[in-house]
Amino acid sequence: EDPRINGIKTKIRVVPDFPKKGIMFQDITTVLLDPKAFKDTIDLFVERYRDKNISVVAGIEARGFIFGPPIALAIGAKFVPLRKPKKLPGETIFEEYELEYGNDRLEMHIGAVEAGDRALVVDDLIATGGTLCAAINLLERVGEEVVECACVIELPELKGRQRLKGKPLCMLVEYR
Ligand code: PRP
Ligand code: MG
Repeated sequence: EDPRINGIKTKIRVVPDFPKKGIMFQDITTVLLDPKAFKDTIDLFVERYRDKNISVVAGIEARGFIFGPPIALAIGAKFVPLRKPKKLPGETIFEEYELEYGNDRLEMHIGAVEAGDRALVVDDLIATGGTLCAAINLLERVGEEVVECACVIELPELKGRQRLKGKPLCMLVEYR
């Protein structure tokens, strides 16, 4: 394992019972407070993706907006935000996904990506995989090739990987 990964892991703050009882919230804001840990996080992804012909980094609101753009800049890809409902001003397409209670959706601007683009999807964390699955569906509907998904943290017990439609997942830290 890359020695930088343990440094990143020690900066992730686990907050019990947030946002509700029984959830061990994985807080990445404490990684951002440490410039070395934040830079190492970005560098690890950039080293992996710089020669993979990625033309689009799609970041999932909200924390995919923190990690996605520096990766996109470093590898020379465009950045496309996948947003929660009613935030994007232009014409959009959307995918719904299930939450524990009710549904949520991700929206993307029509025209942001072109058929033949090669996409990397970025978020902070994968739990059930529902969010990343919706992101993959959105991109594939407009003819995108989703090359891989990248997350800082995986909760492997929730088996979210199995919902990624066979797409590879790269993560840095597992939380069990
Ligand atoms: C969290 C996290 C991921 C998602 C993972 O976001 O940031 O985006 O849940 O869960 P899943 O794998 O079970 O879909 P959340 O929906 O809480 O919203 P936020 O990022 O806007 O705070
Ligand atoms: Mg999120």
